[in-house]
Amino acid sequence: MPDRALKFSALLIRVVAVVLLLHAGVTTLKAQPHPDAKELVRQMTLGEKIAQLSQIPGMKIPEFDQQVGDAKQFVRKYGAGSVLWVSDWKEINEWQHLAVDESRLHIPILFGLDVIHGYHTIFPSPIAMASSWDPRLVEAAQTVAAREARAAGIGWTFAPMLDIARDARWGRMVEGAGEDPYLGAAMARAQVLGFQGPSLGSPDHVLACAKHFAGYGAADGGRDYDSSYIPEEEMWNAYLPPFKAAADAGVGSFMSAYMDLNDIPASGNRWLLHDVLRESWGYNGFVVSDAVAVYNLTTHGYASDGQDAAFKAFSAGLNMDMASGTYIANLAAAVKQGRVSVQQIDEAVFPILETKIRMGLFEHPYVDESHLQQVLNAPDRLELARKAVQRSVVLLRNEQKLLPLDKNQIRSIAVIGPLADAQLDALDMWGTITKPGPTVDVVEGIKNKVGRGVRVEFAHGPNISRNIPSFFEGTPVVPATEQPAQTADEARRAIEDAVTIAKRSDVAVLVLGEIALMSGEAASRSSLQLSGGQEELLEAVCATGKPVVLVLINGRPLDISWAAEHVPAILEAWYPGSEAGNGIADVLFGDANPAGHLPVSWPRNSAELPLYYNHNRTHAPEDAADFKSRYWDALSTPLYPFGYGLSFTTFSFDNLKLSGAEAKIGATLDVSVDVANTGSRAGDAVVQLYIHQRAGSASRPVRQLKGFQRVNLAAGSKQTLHFKLGPEELQFWSPASHKWVVEPEQFDVWVGENSTAKLHAEFRLNP
Ligand code: NOJ
Repeated sequence: MPDRALKFSALLIRVVAVVLLLHAGVTTLKAQPHPDAKELVRQMTLGEKIAQLSQIPGMKIPEFDQQVGDAKQFVRKYGAGSVLWVSDWKEINEWQHLAVDESRLHIPILFGLDVIHGYHTIFPSPIAMASSWDPRLVEAAQTVAAREARAAGIGWTFAPMLDIARDARWGRMVEGAGEDPYLGAAMARAQVLGFQGPSLGSPDHVLACAKHFAGYGAADGGRDYDSSYIPEEEMWNAYLPPFKAAADAGVGSFMSAYMDLNDIPASGNRWLLHDVLRESWGYNGFVVSDAVAVYNLTTHGYASDGQDAAFKAFSAGLNMDMASGTYIANLAAAVKQGRVSVQQIDEAVFPILETKIRMGLFEHPYVDESHLQQVLNAPDRLELARKAVQRSVVLLRNEQKLLPLDKNQIRSIAVIGPLADAQLDALDMWGTITKPGPTVDVVEGIKNKVGRGVRVEFAHGPNISRNIPSFFEGTPVVPATEQPAQTADEARRAIEDAVTIAKRSDVAVLVLGEIALMSGEAASRSSLQLSGGQEELLEAVCATGKPVVLVLINGRPLDISWAAEHVPAILEAWYPGSEAGNGIADVLFGDANPAGHLPVSWPRNSAELPLYYNHNRTHAPEDAADFKSRYWDALSTPLYPFGYGLSFTTFSFDNLKLSGAEAKIGATLDVSVDVANTGSRAGDAVVQLYIHQRAGSASRPVRQLKGFQRVNLAAGSKQTLHFKLGPEELQFWSPASHKWVVEPEQFDVWVGENSTAKLHAEFRLNP
């Protein structure tokens, strides 16, 4: 008995202790700056909740001003989910004080900005980073971008941009990873990891945003914002995989796209935002619209007025209204009318608050200037930016091994072209809107490389500008500008000056392409020709008979048909970022061996667009003798195929082996191949694996990338590489059954250094 009493009192003591502890825990939790999201929601008024569902523009936006009025006043009263387009840390702190000190619940603001490929240290544009075929590099670059942005108070980047782009007329090809879903998915994962770290809320990281969901790249005629018509199977097989990869990698937010997708605007498209994203993928982060896209549901002619727009966007699954104020002006009425329930509002607010809590915003809402300065001056960041240039440039042509240039032989260099001294333009538009540090341009990079013993002269050549100015020019957020217009005489004289310096030099390096405002948002073009007098400049310099190297700085493939026949060396550098000149000079002079490979099929001209390697096999295949071209007046093949890129060394591929000639559906095959460096210098091979399913419930693409590895090989060395082919790689969305299938069929496999690889094997999948 005394024993039982003892046991009972011990139990009682334990229970009391646990209750006390729990109570203490709850009390401490309340007192702590990181609250519980559900508890917060419980305390909020409807107005405060709608404020969390809103992103407030940090600059004047007419739609917002009309519907809401003074933004700062609003934040004082209600707080805000987010504020965007403020890049200056002092301003960020000012806004933050309004929310944290003055609003009733003191909920901090999450600041959002387009930190697309760097904040202070600008890395190469996304299309360039994809050309590296090096996800680890991409992750490392976005880690630096995240660290810098976070130190400056930006907790949320509107990246990665995951739109598949098959049409180089579309200006935004530069922002993504090109045309291929597999490469796109790899780049998506790498970027999400880089931005967010191992998990959302990792210190020194930011919230990433998978955009623009989805199908934006398929704009009719490559015209930005125009409607996309994408059949279901194309959606699943080509356009959605990078987004799925981002969701699987834990991306904390999605951004809905601007355009109509199959007649329903993406920002009010329930199939996309609910059925695919939440139901099919089980996504539980939050969705923000693109800027003013909720309001623009009325402009599209999809919503009858602001109220209808707010209702349609919200009920489609869109949590946060970017910059338009349409939720603020209309959602409360929708609740009052019973069209939207308070529970739905709570469910939409919850992931936004959760994100702020996980990111530690409640504990650290403000920018610490000394930490910021330390981060912006971190010693290793420029080295990484330079490495990124070296690894992302694509050598398109190198006749008679003109490259690498020998700095001991060359005494004089003419550096020519309207982008040779480009600083802002080497960053592309997004690279200019944050707080970029100085850029090393190509003239400077070459001078740094060759030292004083070599004469380096520069001629700008004719100015280049858009025929129709960009609407971003002159806006406070975008400092990039056009080059001033010139008379025909001025342009002619600029070409003559260039020819003069080329004549007295041992080699001419021409740097041509597109200024920043020629690529990116609202920067589509009908022709891909070298604009302004650039083609004329190029031909005039070539006519001097001097060896010419063409370096391209641009955001999309250009029509270089003439150059591809007449210019001995062509290097695609895309928009290389802060270390542009140093990285390019490293490659021109052989201190780095290029291994970038194209993430897009390079068209001969714009008439061929859209162009992509993974099209279906037709009744008259292009490899059949009688049907070599789809056109009678020109070839319809790319100038350079997807996956293409040269090196200063050469590689051979052989001994392609499969773990079996047959496998059961569900099994995973091992594919191995020997890769050898057959040249005389070390270099990286980008080994690519493609498959083709020969028959099935639907026609299948002629080839599909299903594996790649970038490997470094010493001269003369050889390595055996292994790839996996399992259900993940072999499945596709069948339009016959409207689901993912793996079919018992015969498959081809090719491995090599681009999408025309010849080394072949085959296998059969059995039921
Ligand atoms: C519009 C662009 O389409 C989108 O990519 C960007 O993130 C937002 N504006 C915010 O700047």
